[in-house]
Amino acid sequence: NKRTRIKELLTSEPQGQTVTVMGWVRTFRNNQFVALNDGSTNANLQVVLELGRFDEELLKRITTSASLKVTGKVIESMGKGQKLEVKADEVEILGDSDSEKYPLQPKKHSLEFLREIAHLRFRTNTFGSVFRIRHSLAFAVHQFFNDKGFVYLHTPIITASDAEGAGEMFRVSTLPFDNPPRKEDGSIDFSEDFFGRATNLTVSGQLEGELGATAFGDIYTFGPTFRAENSNTARHLAEFWMIEPEMAFYDLEDNANLAEEFIQYIIRYIMDKHADDLEFLRQRLLEEEKQKPQNERSELDLIQKLKFVTENKFERITYTEAIDILLQSPAYKKKKFQYDVKWGIDMQSEHERYLVEKHFKKPVIVTNYPKEIKAFYMRQNDDGKTVAAMDILAPGIGEIVGGSQREERMDKLTKRMEEMHVPAEELWWYLDTRRYGTVPHAGFGLGFERMVQFVTGMGNIRDVIAFPRTPKNAEF
Ligand code: 4AD
Ligand code: MG
Repeated sequence: NKRTRIKELLTSEPQGQTVTVMGWVRTFRNNQFVALNDGSTNANLQVVLELGRFDEELLKRITTSASLKVTGKVIESMGKGQKLEVKADEVEILGDSDSEKYPLQPKKHSLEFLREIAHLRFRTNTFGSVFRIRHSLAFAVHQFFNDKGFVYLHTPIITASDAEGAGEMFRVSTLPFDNPPRKEDGSIDFSEDFFGRATNLTVSGQLEGELGATAFGDIYTFGPTFRAENSNTARHLAEFWMIEPEMAFYDLEDNANLAEEFIQYIIRYIMDKHADDLEFLRQRLLEEEKQKPQNERSELDLIQKLKFVTENKFERITYTEAIDILLQSPAYKKKKFQYDVKWGIDMQSEHERYLVEKHFKKPVIVTNYPKEIKAFYMRQNDDGKTVAAMDILAPGIGEIVGGSQREERMDKLTKRMEEMHVPAEELWWYLDTRRYGTVPHAGFGLGFERMVQFVTGMGNIRDVIAFPRTPKNAEF
């Protein structure tokens, strides 16, 4: 059962060798030419069936999406658009397909339609490219941190704590559906959730990550995280993957430097390894751009954008400077923003996009946010108003990274937790890092799907995760 992958085959020289390929039929023309795809690349292999050599019964069964095993000779192709093709000696139908009923026709389907058949959409060129790139991005993440000596720490999915303190948790429960235990007032007693303890799905692996960093020095997590927010946007999922490095002895600037190097590294990795998929997505976007009015089209195409980001330093500004820029902006003066701008606001996506897309036209690292709009664990600055936070904003995406230097001073941390009603007694284990040899440390979280969006240019986050979880969306 030795099969040759089509990507490998198409980049080799035609030497008349005999190969076996397996894949799915994309099209079958003139009872002669099969376009076969095996998922290794968007390029189809042309399989040529000599006329009269194969019987009618077999030819009838070569329909769109049927699966085939073909053994034949690799020869130079006379056809346009391909260097070589396979002249079939043997064709075996592995699985028939009723092409009348098959939902994917050989034409362009809308992304909305493909979302409804997410179980089959990997078989399209667009999703082929997106998910091969997603795979390689994940691989590049591990490579980057492994090369730097970071330890990959697997943090728990089920936890009793709320790392972000935002109350956006999915409850995990072992309570029986019918007849759950009740309190005296008749309401369900959730404190018994997980065999005697209230638990939820993790919103972030950071707190456990800090335990790792204060032992190994440098760690990262990379796993699914969950947010029970009822938001229906092109940037939010209820289940998304996050990469969270956490480093001892790092301050905010070290943190920003690492994040920038990391993002540039993984983009460069994709540019090196996926030139063909990026080219396909670039063309796809150019088509999409043609639908837009001239003044809304982007100046750079996908590949130029990625190259620009890897070759130029990110802009770095403080939150206070960001607010000043917004207040000075023509958009603000002409009342183009829907939400008000003043010091203290949690910037809305229209503000973030103004900064990266209109003002700086490159990724921007915004630091030192007001403490009121950030989590309890961030290090308090001497001004008494801001914390050592950083968000990275990316063109077309908005916030792609959220991070901070952590508050390593026990007294300041517990005081802030009290102010924010974060229960110190439940986080006793977290506070032990500050009790036993506390150190300055910092970390950040990169939203993996937003990164995949940035690299592939896909506009909707539902199109860069295999099985998106958004409100009311959980069938497959
Ligand atoms: O800014 P967030 O909430 O930060 C944290 O969770 C920190 N504990 C990270 C850390 O310092 N270790 O989330 C980090 C990133 C965001 O910048 C965004 O890219 C992504 O995670 N993100 C989401 N992605 C998709 N859907 C959602 N609902 C997301 N919420 C956050
Ligand atoms: Mg954030």
